[in-house]
Amino acid sequence: MSAAAHAVSPAASLTSAGGTNARIRVTVNGQAVVAEIEPRTLLVHFLREVLGLTGTHIGCDTSHCGACTVLLDGKAVKSCTVLAVQTDGREVRTVESLEVGGKLSPVQEAFIECHGLQCGFCTPGMMMSATALLAKTANPTEAEIRDAIRGNLCRCTGYVNIVKAIQSAGQKMQSAAGTGGKA
Ligand code: FES
Ligand code: FES
Repeated sequence: MSAAAHAVSPAASLTSAGGTNARIRVTVNGQAVVAEIEPRTLLVHFLREVLGLTGTHIGCDTSHCGACTVLLDGKAVKSCTVLAVQTDGREVRTVESLEVGGKLSPVQEAFIECHGLQCGFCTPGMMMSATALLAKTANPTEAEIRDAIRGNLCRCTGYVNIVKAIQSAGQKMQSAAGTGGKA
């Protein structure tokens, strides 16, 4: 994604007929974005419909499923509960940021290896919650993992392999760092 590609254009922005749009400047997956949007635009709609980042899913309209989880200034948030204007001047990371230069992140690798997904609909949100957890807790306990993903619902896996995947990702990150320290 280039900044230019996601600088606002009239065709791509979510605009209101009344001309009461808000201008935001936000860093999304490391790229600066400027956009004109309706103030009521939810972050999840901004990401999917304006920026085309459809890896962030919408699984409910009750703020329960967590499929829409992204990182806002490093913290996992449900992007259906955040207004896009609230991200002005801040940093957003979506699931698209996990793979870099064709290399999957440890979390992505571990979800594959541990069969941490079946249909995959919850997986982007799960991986973003896992990424936030492992950034602050390198070797989380099962209880810590289950607490970190308590806002992410999965209808397929029964969660066991998701927990294993997150534990495995933590181990991978520690091995890569050559320490027992922070992920
Ligand atoms: S779409 Fe379900 S919690 Fe956001
Ligand atoms: S893998 Fe299907 S909802 Fe989680």
